Amino acid sequence: MVSDQYPHTDRGEFVPYDRPRLPEAQMRERAASFYDLMAKRRSIRTFSTDPVPKDLIETAVRTAGTSPSGAHQQPWTFVLISDPETKRRIRIAAEEEERVNYLDGRMPEDWQEEIARLGTSWQKPYLEEAPWIVVLFEQRYGIDPDGSRRKHYYVKESVGIAAGTFIAAIHQMGLATLTHTPSPMAFLTKLLDRPQNERPAILFPVGYPADGTVVPRLERKPLAEILVDYPSGPGGVHRPFVPDDFAVPESFAGPGFHLEPLGPQHNERDHEAWMSSIDHIRSTPGFGPSNDWPSPMDLDANRSDLIGHARDFENRDGFTYSILDGDDVIGCVYIYPSTDPAHDAAVSSWVRATRAEMDDVVYRSLSRWLEGSWPFTAPHYAGRTDAG
Ligand SMILES: Cc1cc2nc3c(=O)[nH]c(=O)nc-3n(C[C@H](O)[C@H](O)[C@H](O)COP(=O)(O)O)c2cc1C
Repeated sequence: MVSDQYPHTDRGEFVPYDRPRLPEAQMRERAASFYDLMAKRRSIRTFSTDPVPKDLIETAVRTAGTSPSGAHQQPWTFVLISDPETKRRIRIAAEEEERVNYLDGRMPEDWQEEIARLGTSWQKPYLEEAPWIVVLFEQRYGIDPDGSRRKHYYVKESVGIAAGTFIAAIHQMGLATLTHTPSPMAFLTKLLDRPQNERPAILFPVGYPADGTVVPRLERKPLAEILVDYPSGPGGVHRPFVPDDFAVPESFAGPGFHLEPLGPQHNERDHEAWMSSIDHIRSTPGFGPSNDWPSPMDLDANRSDLIGHARDFENRDGFTYSILDGDDVIGCVYIYPSTDPAHDAAVSSWVRATRAEMDDVVYRSLSRWLEGSWPFTAPHYAGRTDAG
């Protein structure tokens, strides 16, 4: 079909693009559930040796092959390996390179510093343990049937997008992977008999996580740090956390406690309250084991945190209150934008271990306060099992 929507070519053939328009509520639901799925994705480095059927890996590659690419040149090749001997050879070659990186100083110190918290080393047992290794090659240029070279455009961008699609497909089917880039990885071209126009881009071990797999505790940047509204400010599309005309409460009195905006004046009392309650806070709803906080820190670092919270409060970016009984700090409540699109605020609170009985009291009282005195329509405040 030739189309008058494309008056500048007489060479293309065009077909209708017909996708149903969904009601906004359904779009939101689907967006939130895809976000939930992807938010749970992690790179793992310990794999079960349990086999995974090949057709699943093929479907992931087929899915990756739907990615957009520069001039639709699809400059990617996925090589699938499950044969133990080849996996062993890959491991040996990768470890040889990585040993030089880690032990012989080829990896610059600042890079080593950056990855220290990931717990990686030159050893890569997962290259043998994972039932599948998928090596994604980028085709630097194409080769026409007559053997001549054809220029490829935006190869790295295209292959990066295909890698992302592949990772999403693997995760969606309940498997896990690691984005692995042994450096340098040129040995893969030879070891896997790939032609000279192909350069290895990423190696993906794929399989199930080994029993007891742990992953580094990492935080993802909040939306506010990765999203910029342009133009922002008055007249722009910047959406404030609370409406400009909302008078943010400067205090609140509940049964047996009251709130004050948290600031450096609470430093010693706040620090003592949570440092003496780390295990208790970690078992409080909303503060799971995957949270970076609380982990021991000194008074100065705590002061910096409190100054940050006070600044957020002043800028109306987030609202943190100290929970007090008289002059004693017994806990804290945080009201911040939610990273989950299904919620407009994320609320969490803790009380010190010695006042654990106040947790339910605070939760119930603040839940009512949030409902009655704040402008949120769908705040998330992790529920208490016995708090009705
Ligand atoms: C381009 C790229 C290269 C990576 N290379 C390695 C690698 O060689 N070894 C490794 O253990 N992790 C590697 N990673 C994984 C990152 O360390 C990981 O994605 C990051 O720490 C965030 O963790 P998450 O994937 O669990 O969210 C790489 C990730 C990317 C995107």
